[in-house]
Amino acid sequence: MQNLPFEFSHGGYVKEKTVQERMALRPPTTQAIDVETDFDYLFPDIAKDPNSLLPAENNRDIIDKLKKLGEAIIDRQGPELEDTNSTIPPIYTYWGQFIDHDITANTDRAVTDLKTDITKDDFTPLSPKFVTDNLKNLRRPTFDLDSVYGDGPTLDPKNPTEARDFYQEDDPVKLKVGQNAEKDANGDPVPGVKIPPESDLSRDLPRNNRIAAIGDSRNDENLIVAQFHTAFLRFHNAVVDWVRKNEPKNAKDNKKLFVRAQTLVRWHYQWLVVNDFLKTVTATGTVDSILRDGLKFYQPRNGKLFMPLEFSVAAYRFGHSMVRAAYDYNRNFTDQPGALTDATFELLFVFTGKRDLGGSPGPGPSNTLPFNWIIEWDRFVDKKSAAKRQRNSARKIDTHLAFPLSDLLNEGNDEQPPIQQLLKHLAKRNLLRGYFLSIPTGQSLANKLGIKKLTVEELKQGNSAELNQALEPFLEKTPAWYYVLKESEVRAKGDSLGEVGSRIVAETIIGLIKNDRFSYLNERDRDRDRERDHDRDDERDHDRDRDHDNERDRDHDRDYDDERDNERKYNRVWNPSQGVKLPNGGEIRVITDFLKFAGVLPGESC
Ligand code: HEM
Repeated sequence: MQNLPFEFSHGGYVKEKTVQERMALRPPTTQAIDVETDFDYLFPDIAKDPNSLLPAENNRDIIDKLKKLGEAIIDRQGPELEDTNSTIPPIYTYWGQFIDHDITANTDRAVTDLKTDITKDDFTPLSPKFVTDNLKNLRRPTFDLDSVYGDGPTLDPKNPTEARDFYQEDDPVKLKVGQNAEKDANGDPVPGVKIPPESDLSRDLPRNNRIAAIGDSRNDENLIVAQFHTAFLRFHNAVVDWVRKNEPKNAKDNKKLFVRAQTLVRWHYQWLVVNDFLKTVTATGTVDSILRDGLKFYQPRNGKLFMPLEFSVAAYRFGHSMVRAAYDYNRNFTDQPGALTDATFELLFVFTGKRDLGGSPGPGPSNTLPFNWIIEWDRFVDKKSAAKRQRNSARKIDTHLAFPLSDLLNEGNDEQPPIQQLLKHLAKRNLLRGYFLSIPTGQSLANKLGIKKLTVEELKQGNSAELNQALEPFLEKTPAWYYVLKESEVRAKGDSLGEVGSRIVAETIIGLIKNDRFSYLNERDRDRDRERDHDRDDERDHDRDRDHDNERDRDHDRDYDDERDNERKYNRVWNPSQGVKLPNGGEIRVITDFLKFAGVLPGESC
């Protein structure tokens, strides 16, 4: 297995050479996750059928036409129009990105053994066999939050973990959280007002020399995803406190405590991904039908989970179209009265470790995130106001991308033009990547899924003349990424994915969770194994408990066991009623509950 560092960038176009150089420079603690898992096609038969792919011949011409299509997908510069608003709040965009970083990485890497890549004007699409033999996913495709935990804390000094740096020295079951700066690197006070709760300045990623010390550096790619990652660090720590208080039996030693807290965090996250995130972004009924009737398409290959390329390279990149050029970030940076200024999209990338948290071309470097930039999540979560207030809404899932996505600040900077411009252009990259990695066309995916194909009229519906001209060569064989976006636009008003997109995204996500024997959906099966071990432990514990445990402990244990009995009786999988609770007894059922428990959204923090 190659020993690859966690420090790669999202689309930060990391080359093998760069990876090697960074590995030479960094101490071993930065190699917190060392995995290579399989990519494969969800539908290998169509990926192997030339009729289902864009033609491999005339590649130069196809590449040129894909670039034109990419150009036409980008909105013109200027204020975003009112009709870009979707009914989805913008937190789902960056939650989506966070999920991407938890389960898939590397489709964007120019790997030397792939010989060629999308920066060449005449690259040849790789054969599906070559892709699956050579391209490896640098993530475990399970929702286990390796992006947050790395390989875990060092609880036994004889067995140090690579990720030990992510955990607090005096309480190693807890993750480090960064402190917000009140002064910039020059010692000048940070302007603006504090974000409630004002005294809480623990709302940054932990950093070493400004570089985020986290399980996946892509989560410091932009400020919003970084703040979302921070919420996970805080949520985990709050769960540790909750277990200590409410389940003392599970807090008897650090190992037990960490495992219990981590398990609870993972199950809450997985449950929310299925029941909040997926239900919000996919067509109504998709999730329920898969949960009720089972998976139709995703199955492990050779007994192993794999990441479907149709998901990573096409369908799941739907999130790029939800990215907005300007948000209502917080009371300092907004178009609302009383703001310091209205902030640009560019600044989201400036206030990251890569850009020295405010360094060029921002107002000046900081050592940690200045307090004035803490994201105010209540501006990002409200489903009722989303469609009405543009800044509080994700953009529609459609074939119009926000202008700044054609000029990504942190991409391609080491390259010369025209490669530099290409790498800065997300729409072109997505389309070329799909061609390069032989992703089947939208039409062939629709056929395979048994879904009515988009008609030529639908593919062209509402397009500008420029877009329709660029689309002309692809009307019969449409790149899957464009197809998924257009399907959402014409069949779901851009407020959710359409049927093809929904199926691929939901089958993949639920397929990965369902086939992970440690997930919340398999809690019952594992219960049997654990029960056996537990019973043995319990026998041993029994005598000791009699002497040492106080009455309070026993009450808690009894409550916990009662819950388990109920769960068994009613034959249910794990659900939030068995998880942590807000101080008012509320369960974690939507993302706002999660943020409140983490203490990053005013309300019932723990
Ligand atoms: C400002 C926000 C974002 C930026 C700047 C960004 C940028 C990028 C870039 C540059 C790539 C590599 C493209 C390539 O060369 O193949 C990429 C890949 C990807 N993006 Fe995004 N992205 C953003 C948000 C999102 C969101 C919201 C989602 C989904 C909801 C998403 C899903 C993906 C996926 C699945 C990949 C492929 C990952 C892999 O290598 O397996 N991204 N993104």
